[in-house]
Amino acid sequence: MKNQSIWKLKPTNQKYPTLKDDIHTEVAIIGGGITGISTALLLAQQGIETVVLEAREIGKGTTGNSTGNLYSLIESGLSSIEEKYDLTTLQRVVDSRKKALSLIKNNIENFQIDCDYNNRSMFYFDTDNNLNLNKERKLALEVGITTTLIKDENFPFRISQGLEFENQAQINPLAYVQGLAKEVHNLGGKIYENSNVTSIVEEKDQVILTTPKANIRAKKVIQATHTPKGLQIQYHTTLGPYREYGIAAKLKNDNYPRGIFWGFFRNKKYSIRSYKFQGENFLICVGNMHKVGQTDDNLSQILALESFVKEYFEIEKITHRWGGQNYKPADMLPYIGKKKNNSKQYIATGFSTDGLVYGSLAALILSDEIIGRKNVFWNLYKAYRHRPLKVAKNFTKENLNVASKLIGDFLKSGQNLDLKKMMPEQGKIINYKSGKIAIYKNKSGDFKFLSPICPHMGCTVRWNNAEKSWDCPCHGSRFDPQGKVIEGPSLKGLKRK
Ligand code: FES
Repeated sequence: MKNQSIWKLKPTNQKYPTLKDDIHTEVAIIGGGITGISTALLLAQQGIETVVLEAREIGKGTTGNSTGNLYSLIESGLSSIEEKYDLTTLQRVVDSRKKALSLIKNNIENFQIDCDYNNRSMFYFDTDNNLNLNKERKLALEVGITTTLIKDENFPFRISQGLEFENQAQINPLAYVQGLAKEVHNLGGKIYENSNVTSIVEEKDQVILTTPKANIRAKKVIQATHTPKGLQIQYHTTLGPYREYGIAAKLKNDNYPRGIFWGFFRNKKYSIRSYKFQGENFLICVGNMHKVGQTDDNLSQILALESFVKEYFEIEKITHRWGGQNYKPADMLPYIGKKKNNSKQYIATGFSTDGLVYGSLAALILSDEIIGRKNVFWNLYKAYRHRPLKVAKNFTKENLNVASKLIGDFLKSGQNLDLKKMMPEQGKIINYKSGKIAIYKNKSGDFKFLSPICPHMGCTVRWNNAEKSWDCPCHGSRFDPQGKVIEGPSLKGLKRK
């Protein structure tokens, strides 16, 4: 079994260099996932000098951990937007997502990207009659999404009610982004991998980005990093970081379900699909979401996911396990656009679990803004908006949670531990003299000692025993066992002790 997402099955020989020399550019994009690379392509197509800086490898962050499902609906249900806003806003959200879906489809056709694109139905259902599907159905029809009741007797799950939405789609998201990156490169755009940005300084007429080996000066910078980097209180206080898990499995029979299945099983939501790679079928299931760094045992979450799958399918073997992150905005709409009215920096964040489509939409909006065109959806997703009444409830909930982690974990003492008894490939926070230390023991029995204090805003990290990382419960920064940033807002790694 592999501890990585199933999309990494497809080999790629595409490699990009590390940034080693100082350069200037018109636009620098931080982040080589679907948002960054789609934006880079749209800019390169307009002849705009563009550089992409990816901290690791193109598409292998959040994009490569997603489900590959493409849909015009949204994770929280259509009624959630209609209730918080109104039908007109919902219509605009759906219309904007349809625009992004067209962009993805056109890119695949135009550039002949081999990413297993398939038109599929999406099924939204529950097993206990808890959802108000009549309302979802009515709203879907009102905003122009064809929907019917699930009546199929051969439906793979026993359900109490469900809806089918036709003409949605599925892809291999990693292959799609790597295909786009190739086109960016062909058009003269520059892509650098293993070039993590460690500081961002905005000056009067440029933004300076520092990477470990060289600096880059850009007239404009797009942070396509899933969540804005550095101290950006106005965004970090309105975004809730969540983590969920994915597994892929081989079945004993050949009954792989075709479509996007979003099911509420005894009130818990799971996303299920299948994927065919080189003639072999796989079942994929994603679920068990929780706030980042706020479970004591991540591994048990994956094991629970495996038990769930075994309850509904005849599993031959589990082939892959992985985790993925998402950020939920307090007012339920992503933030896309200029960071502040007069800033040279742009952000795209708050996509919940709907990021492949919102990331592509962000590319359309951001590239229009850079070019100087007004995108029809810019105002709906404007990043520096102020909607106190819309954010109030979730803002309070998320920030009380952050405050409790910041203060509670600081006061909580670490463990007193006999290091000899510590298992390999495990991390622990221990008491040492007057402070705490994060300790990791590797396979060979060597130790790494780090400060457990997250450099972003000072919360205490926790060990993620499934993905072998230090995860911050406040705004979702994650660090590898050596303390290096994996993802999240922190620009700096955990300090050595
Ligand atoms: Fe903000 Fe750790 S991510 S304090």
